Amino acid sequence: MARRSRNGLSTSFWFAATLAAASTATPILFGGDISRLVDSTLKGVSSNLKGLFLPGTSLSALIGEQRCKVYPGDANWPSDLAWETLNKLTDNRLLTKPAPQASVCYNGPLYDGAKCEEITATWNRSYSHFVDPIEMMSPVAQGMTCLPPFVFDSHNCTRGGFPMYVINATEPKHVQMGVNFARNTGVRLVIKNTGHDFLGKSGGKDALSIWTHHFKNIEYIEEFKDEKLGYSGPAFKAGVGVQAFEIYKAAHEKGRAVVGGEGETVGIFGGYIQGGGHSPLSSLYGTGADQVLAFEVVTADGKFVVANSTTNTGLFWAMRGGGGSTFGVATSVTVKAHPDMPTTASRFSFTSEKVGNETFWAGIRAYVDYFIPNADAGTYAYFTIIPNIWTGIFSFNMSPFFAPNKTLEETQALLQPWLTRLDDLSIKFDPNITHFDSYYEAWRSSFPLETVQKINATTGSRMFPRTNLETEEKREELYRNLRQSSENNRVQVHFNMKTVDPANADNAVNSAWRPMYLFSQQAVRWPVNGTAEDTLKRRQEFQTGDMQRWRDISPGAGSYLAEADRLEPNFGQAFWGDKYPQLLELKAKLDPYDVFFATTSVGSERWKVESPGGLPNENGKLCRV
Ligand SMILES: Cc1cc2nc3c(=O)[nH]c(=O)nc-3n(C[C@H](O)[C@H](O)[C@H](O)COP(=O)(O)OP(=O)(O)OC[C@H]3O[C@@H](n4cnc5c(N)ncnc54)[C@H](O)[C@@H]3O)c2cc1C
Ligand SMILES: *[C@@H]1O[C@H](CO)[C@@H](O)[C@H](O)[C@H]1NC(C)=O
Ligand SMILES: *[C@@H]1O[C@H](CO)[C@@H](O)[C@H](O)[C@H]1NC(C)=O
Ligand SMILES: *[C@@H]1O[C@H](CO)[C@@H](O)[C@H](O)[C@H]1NC(C)=O
Ligand SMILES: *[C@@H]1O[C@H](CO)[C@@H](O)[C@H](O)[C@H]1NC(C)=O
Ligand SMILES: *[C@@H]1O[C@H](CO)[C@@H](O)[C@H](O)[C@H]1NC(C)=O
Ligand SMILES: *[C@@H]1O[C@H](CO)[C@@H](O)[C@H](O)[C@H]1NC(C)=O
Ligand SMILES: *[C@@H]1O[C@H](CO)[C@@H](O)[C@H](O)[C@H]1NC(C)=O
Ligand SMILES: *[C@@H]1O[C@H](CO)[C@@H](O)[C@H](O)[C@H]1NC(C)=O
Ligand SMILES: *[C@@H]1O[C@H](CO)[C@@H](O)[C@H](O)[C@H]1NC(C)=O
Repeated sequence: MARRSRNGLSTSFWFAATLAAASTATPILFGGDISRLVDSTLKGVSSNLKGLFLPGTSLSALIGEQRCKVYPGDANWPSDLAWETLNKLTDNRLLTKPAPQASVCYNGPLYDGAKCEEITATWNRSYSHFVDPIEMMSPVAQGMTCLPPFVFDSHNCTRGGFPMYVINATEPKHVQMGVNFARNTGVRLVIKNTGHDFLGKSGGKDALSIWTHHFKNIEYIEEFKDEKLGYSGPAFKAGVGVQAFEIYKAAHEKGRAVVGGEGETVGIFGGYIQGGGHSPLSSLYGTGADQVLAFEVVTADGKFVVANSTTNTGLFWAMRGGGGSTFGVATSVTVKAHPDMPTTASRFSFTSEKVGNETFWAGIRAYVDYFIPNADAGTYAYFTIIPNIWTGIFSFNMSPFFAPNKTLEETQALLQPWLTRLDDLSIKFDPNITHFDSYYEAWRSSFPLETVQKINATTGSRMFPRTNLETEEKREELYRNLRQSSENNRVQVHFNMKTVDPANADNAVNSAWRPMYLFSQQAVRWPVNGTAEDTLKRRQEFQTGDMQRWRDISPGAGSYLAEADRLEPNFGQAFWGDKYPQLLELKAKLDPYDVFFATTSVGSERWKVESPGGLPNENGKLCRV
């Protein structure tokens, strides 16, 4: 451990400084203070090492002078003994260099042809990724350094944007140890839950990762009262690893429904809820973040605290919409539980093949006229418009039109005006309208299982407000811009819904969600084998072209931080609107040393991942700009 810091102070001085700071720090909260825990677990281990695990901030002030986070090969990279100690303090839950799944496909000690075939067959299912400590559902953001050759030939399996060490956490103290260790050593910290994030914010080259997947408790609270939030009613307290399919089932069993995403395996209590989160129930109840009654959180200085309407209120405000991996690591979230309700859902599709382009687009244009009344009626429509460059055919796919709390007749009546116009245009579609007794059954039958993202595509998004739909001219303008994107070969995914919180909670949710009636995504694709320069150029042209057109017709609106492009310009405004200045202030106060970072998160302007060819991915050191 005879290392020297950049400014020449010996490491033992650093540790002494931390120990001193810790003795005056607020006691931490997990049934005993951490230094006693270190003492009992680490009999005979040098007191210098203990400093790496203590709460406090003075050590970071020194590390704060380094240009980059600390990486293997740096003088300050923790010793093997330090990592072993972290392993002990986390109940032997530290995974060292977990292998990328596709390492069995490449030459090396792990090569295994049969296993390679196995993982290739299940590769694009989200189930194979969220059970893995490192795999991300955004291979583009990982850097594509170890994919199954059938999907993409990486030529060699390297770690790329994957972390080096992973704490498979099941208790707050495992998280505290990880946060303290990262802060006190300067090693980059990442948090992975399911790995769904479109931008790859669950990864980071050679980082220490806290994997939250196994926080799986679900507790039903019959009556939760919070006068400040104006809530009195049932609630669920869930571990942050709980996923959509788990909480929906648990809620259904209690005759309840909880606001969460449409995707079956999205982590509802991790990145989703902290980033806002839209839901098939959003037109009734607002965003996911609007449902939060309390968090349990490990803060940047290593304390385990409650954040609610009366305690740590700044943290509570910021974590409801401010984005994951920024203000703390949540370990549990308490949310409102709503009554379960009968739900009607409908799926149908049509293409331009038989009717031709103009008629197809007249059908889409007709639909735009109903976005306001449909969302006002509390429905949620998830639809795609997909071009096929080989055949020149466009497809529209409603999957589904989702009407919570509506009878079959009410739903038919809502859809009828548009469907009649499709009939008049001789567009053939075959709507399957089905009524379900519960939200849970409707959800299970209506949504596709999500897949891992493509290796040569990225999505950008825009929240179109009501003003884009209020007049004939505005609807025509919006329609023409969507059509232009299709003609430019963009795959489009849309959500016609509202995300207004009936309780009007004051939180960090992007102000652009509130006037929104259409949440729209479009994707850019590029040749897989192109150069980094070519890929970057196409991605930049997408931002200055099709995405800029969408921004130009919706001035002041925003984009959704969890379903967006890493190249979204002016992301602070786009992801948080007028809340961004306050979020920056809170970031400076709650995490002064940037222990937490994710690309495009609040305050992330100060840092940049230095990736090969400047590609927007996690395959590089994280350094100050
Ligand atoms: C197929 C698919 C369907 C989707 N459907 C929807 C949808 O219907 N509605 C919607 O709003 N979004 C949807 N999303 C987007 C989804 O909300 C985001 O991908 C979200 O980031 C997922 O959160 P996660 O925790 O599961 O993922 P991760 O990628 O593991 O984490 C996302 C971010 O949150 C951070 N984070 C995770 N857990 C914690 C924690 N406990 N404390 C602090 N930070 C944490 C991570 O570090 C990362 O920065 C979908 C995504 C996909 C791929
Ligand atoms: C997923 O992979 C399987 C097997 O490789 C393939 O048949 C299927 O088309 C893929 N699905 C998607 C959506 O990429
Ligand atoms: C594969 O990557 C490893 C680690 O970076 C490197 O040592 C090795 O030389 C590479 N092999 C080939 C064939 O490129
Ligand atoms: C992570 O911890 C869980 C819960 O203890 C365990 O079931 C799982 O096997 C662990 N995963 C790995 C990769 O160690
Ligand atoms: C907030 O959390 C604190 C600490 O657990 C608790 O004492 C307080 O009652 C909570 N406030 C509300 C409104 O639940
Ligand atoms: C429809 O438009 C697409 C894209 O603009 C074009 O490729 C195709 O040829 C058109 N189809 C017809 C029948 O005109
Ligand atoms: C659902 O419908 C019932 C009966 O029509 C009504 O009382 C209730 O308010 C509705 N719930 C919501 C959230 O709209
Ligand atoms: C209609 O949808 C329901 C629910 O998804 C499904 O069970 C049923 O088989 C579908 N009917 C037809 C004719 O496709
Ligand atoms: C993207 O990659 C797929 C193969 O995975 C390929 O079929 C497709 O043509 C590529 N798209 C572009 C625009 O090159
Ligand atoms: C990429 O692959 C395509 C089809 O295989 C080929 O035509 C093209 O020349 C390749 N481009 C490069 C830069 O290798």
